Amino acid sequence: MARDIKARLEKRLAANRRGGGEEKIDRQHEQGKLTARERIELFLDAGTFEEMDALVEHGCTDFGMAEKRIPGDGVVSGHGLVDGRPVFVFAQDFTVFGGSLSEANAAKICKVMDLAMKAGAPVIGLNDSGGARIQEGVASLAGYADIFLRNTLASGVVPQISAIMGPCAGGAVYSPAITDFVVMVEKTSYMFVTGPDVIRTVTHEEVTKEKLGGAMTHNSVSGVAHFVAPGDAECLARIRELLSYLPSNNAERTPVVPTSDPPGREIPLLDTLVPEDSNRPYDIKKIIRAVADDGGFLEVHEHFAKNIVVGFIRLAGHSIGVIANQPNHLAGTLDINASVKGARFVRFCDAFNIPLWIVEDVPGFLPGTAQEWGGIIRQGAKLLYALAEATVPKVTVITRKAYGGAYCVMGSKHIRTDINLAFPTAEIAVMGPQGAVNILYRREIAEAADPEAERQRLVAEYEEKFANPFVAAEKGYIDDVIHPRSLRRKLIASFDMLQAKRDTMPAKKHGNIPL
Ligand code: HXC
Repeated sequence: MARDIKARLEKRLAANRRGGGEEKIDRQHEQGKLTARERIELFLDAGTFEEMDALVEHGCTDFGMAEKRIPGDGVVSGHGLVDGRPVFVFAQDFTVFGGSLSEANAAKICKVMDLAMKAGAPVIGLNDSGGARIQEGVASLAGYADIFLRNTLASGVVPQISAIMGPCAGGAVYSPAITDFVVMVEKTSYMFVTGPDVIRTVTHEEVTKEKLGGAMTHNSVSGVAHFVAPGDAECLARIRELLSYLPSNNAERTPVVPTSDPPGREIPLLDTLVPEDSNRPYDIKKIIRAVADDGGFLEVHEHFAKNIVVGFIRLAGHSIGVIANQPNHLAGTLDINASVKGARFVRFCDAFNIPLWIVEDVPGFLPGTAQEWGGIIRQGAKLLYALAEATVPKVTVITRKAYGGAYCVMGSKHIRTDINLAFPTAEIAVMGPQGAVNILYRREIAEAADPEAERQRLVAEYEEKFANPFVAAEKGYIDDVIHPRSLRRKLIASFDMLQAKRDTMPAKKHGNIPL
């Protein structure tokens, strides 16, 4: 009897491992995709995967489904280790009913999410699915909603990361959308709420799947995805890298990665990196990389809203979230996309105890009807709100321009930033010299014998008075004007000092970020 059970168990486990069978596995490989099981094996530390619910089967009897049962039912789930730390993972198995989501399959996903919350470990979802299991009707939709609820409850408690490694369409997109980071694989993945056929019928637009919802579309146009990878292996490696910067949950500190990079390392390059001419662009990423431990920088949302740069570095081994204006793109102005991108990143860091380094060179908000009508007032307010509510250690460095409302937003002292530093090249004022002079001295310039010469004289006078860090430093809004070469040392000293920082929000159910 016992032997019979053992044999039956082996048979079921073998069926589970086989998934949809050789033919379907071959098709998956032909498309350049790994199978769910291969992905998990590649993702986790070798030999650490503990599968759960391998024997789960669906309970559907309609449409001839009673005879079609495959143990595992289209999703492989369980837990394992990444760099020795526990994570929970589920991978939709496209070889089994197209990875479609059944009631039983959803319950498996919910089970690992519930456990992840209790254990305080990240959840990584590898998506590759035809969506709701059509044969199961509303039971499948209920399964999706059960997952959406858990995504929402887990938000800010454990990191949630979604890899899109195949189709992800209809309401199914909303689980990844609630998670913290979305990684898409080039050519094989797509996400959309309604596909090209429906769009053709409703709006008469012709668009391919790739253009509508492929990896680069969501990385560069919509901002739905944060990373793009050329293939499955790179996608999974990117998630491992991302996890190395994150704590396992919101009650933990980030992991410390020892480095031989000296904390006091001087960076002579920084003394000359910011151009004398304040209208000349430069690459803010050079400052970020120069300062980071061993030059390491994991950029998030690299292809979206390039006028702001966000991502993770380490300083003396500790994870730091960086948010920086990029003078190389749109002169570093804040627009709608940059504000939303920045706000989302700041809120992630604040939720997970990751200190923030704000690098500021911003001439202001981007002017124009497109911005105003698109709601730059409401959208820009998101970034202001996010930075003001953040209670993690915050250090701002003004490298050059800090003008107008953008000065207030980008981690000014007044929104409880802990340490505010400035390069000698900092210009802190209500607006740039040209604009200010044109407003203040319109009549004087018009009446002057040589209006242009008078304008230039007044611009020079304004620059002398305001295009520097001194007025702000005199008021204590800037704590220190530093030699740029000492930036790494100064930052590490600041974040070290702030390690035990405690700050709180007033008691409330939750705030009302201007969505
Ligand atoms: C049941 C499904 C399925 C589904 C695919 N399959 N999607 N079974 N429910 N949703 C099955 C197919 O019947 C097929 O089974 C196998 O999976 C592989 O599918 P193919 O069509 O052969 O693969 P491919 O040509 O690569 O096309 C992939 C696809 C297509 C583009 C995803 O399968 C497709 O359009 N599927 C339907 C997508 C869809 O409309 N889903 C519902 C969306 S609404 P056999 O046995 O023949 O191999 C939704 C709402 C979520 O998801 C709501 C949340 C609130």
